[in-house]
Amino acid sequence: AVMKEVFDTRTIEEELQKRLDVEEVHVVPGDSDEFSWVKKELGRSAVSVMKRKLLPDNNVIAVTGGTSIAAVAEMLVPDADLKEALFVPARGGLGEQVENQANTICSTMARKAMGSYRLLHVPDQLSQEAFDSLISEPNVQSVLKLIHAATMVVHGIGDARTMAERRDTAPDVLKKLEDGNAVAEAFGYYFDADGGIVHKVTTIGLQLEELTTIPAIIAVAGGSSKADAIEACMKRAPGQVLVTDEGAARRILNRG
Ligand code: F6P
Repeated sequence: AVMKEVFDTRTIEEELQKRLDVEEVHVVPGDSDEFSWVKKELGRSAVSVMKRKLLPDNNVIAVTGGTSIAAVAEMLVPDADLKEALFVPARGGLGEQVENQANTICSTMARKAMGSYRLLHVPDQLSQEAFDSLISEPNVQSVLKLIHAATMVVHGIGDARTMAERRDTAPDVLKKLEDGNAVAEAFGYYFDADGGIVHKVTTIGLQLEELTTIPAIIAVAGGSSKADAIEACMKRAPGQVLVTDEGAARRILNRG
């Protein structure tokens, strides 16, 4: 029985890699929509990918928020290579609770890995005026420079509707998402099923176009409810590594 399970996971990974046309796929057993331990396994799997994808030196690791990336942070342990790494949030505030914010996750990762970190202090709900003056601050500018020089990005993917609700999104934006058939969200960008941008949350940091120049991009997202979202997002960044679970994988491959 054990052999069969191992074999099955491999097959699913291969099928998914072809179907999504991504560089590398890792599938952990189970469905994180059903069991919370599956998300921990996603985290564990992502950590091993991160270690393998490190450059020989000067690693700048940009991370997003969300519970999946928080699970990655929990699984990090001190490591000779990671000690030299600098962790930064990929983008400014995106309307998450403190424990799921990129800043929080970034500091947890640095603490667990014994690396260092820089934070981006850009609150969510700001007037345009406050926003403009804040982003011209030298400290913010220096962190932005680091973000733009990221060598690795570790990010979550969410279902568009779930994320819009979680962020208490304004009615006009909700309508825009609905009208534009948004199915996925990542980095504060909402995408339709073809990977087209429907909406972008106002904040600073990593821009989607920059992903093409970053050596390692690792998406961490599981749960059968995220199947459409994952498929849509993967259309944007074909060079990615996807760490997902059986629940999402089977739903994407229509295997029940
Ligand atoms: O808000 C940050 C973020 O990474 C989003 O870009 C993504 O949609 C979401 O979190 C994923 O959250 P979770 O891992 O909790 O499903």
